[in-house]
Amino acid sequence: MSGSLNGRTAVVTGAASGVGEAVAVRLARSGAKVVALDLDSEKLEAVTQRIRDDGGMASAYRLDVSDEREWETFDPWLRATHGGLHVFVGNAGIFDVRKVEDTTLEQWTRLVRVNLDGIFLGTRTAVRIMKDTPVVEGTTHSIVNISSVGGIIGAPYGSAYHATKGGIRLFTKSVALECGLLKYPIRANTVHPGPTETPMGGQLLRDRAALTGSAETDVHADLLRLVPLGRLGQPDDIAGAVAFLSGPEAGFMTGSEMIVDGGFTAR
Ligand SMILES: NC(=O)c1ccc[n+]([C@@H]2O[C@H](COP(=O)([O-])OP(=O)(O)OC[C@H]3O[C@@H](n4cnc5c(N)ncnc54)[C@H](O)[C@@H]3O)[C@@H](O)[C@H]2O)c1
Repeated sequence: MSGSLNGRTAVVTGAASGVGEAVAVRLARSGAKVVALDLDSEKLEAVTQRIRDDGGMASAYRLDVSDEREWETFDPWLRATHGGLHVFVGNAGIFDVRKVEDTTLEQWTRLVRVNLDGIFLGTRTAVRIMKDTPVVEGTTHSIVNISSVGGIIGAPYGSAYHATKGGIRLFTKSVALECGLLKYPIRANTVHPGPTETPMGGQLLRDRAALTGSAETDVHADLLRLVPLGRLGQPDDIAGAVAFLSGPEAGFMTGSEMIVDGGFTAR
């Protein structure tokens, strides 16, 4: 495999499914050596094997993004095995469809732990390793955190999810500004997918239908009416944006947010 990410090591979290899986495949096709992280070792092994069968470079590493000690073990492992880090994609996330009045502190905290603590711990690890990693051919290292259109606009029954996704957006902008100020060769941007067909996307429709007492087909049709391009996103739609932000063609982009939603948030 050869492409715009030749000679780079890329870490992708939540790489065993959906968007993360598509990102891992796409970055490997662009020449990156991918380190795929997820809780689900079995699926992760299958994804990385497929990448290797396709001629790419990928290895699997089981990690819970919300566990600080696991990141502290991962840091020296990555330095020893790969010599540094050039691209980090913070993608692992969970959601919860629930009325705010019915949300317990435990349910709220679970989302914050995975979606926000996970992004903070992964990004912190990435900055620490990237600032010690020589850049490839005068380019910059890249952090891409996956937020959501839910990090830009609100929606009923998703207050905890939207709070975490909004947090990712401003956390990443602040990291971008800080890296600039400190003259680290690191860019940091967010990607904001609209409704996307993944296992999470499907579950979200089912949970929303159950909560509102609607048919799943009606929830799906209502959602489609809000997307000017008339279809839901595919994981590869999101992976294309992530690959662009990861590579040298986005060399002047930092602190920005890329919305990939078929026009969902345009109005
Ligand atoms: N699908 C959508 O409609 C949609 C829309 C906007 C944003 N997003 C965001 O895109 C990202 C990927 O979502 P997806 O739809 O591919 O979901 P998915 O459920 O298909 O995949 C998420 C992956 O993250 C992993 N994961 C969950 N918790 C983890 C943890 N603590 N540590 C490590 N891995 C963990 C899961 O095992 C899974 O493999 C998420 O951040 C999500 O919020 C998705």
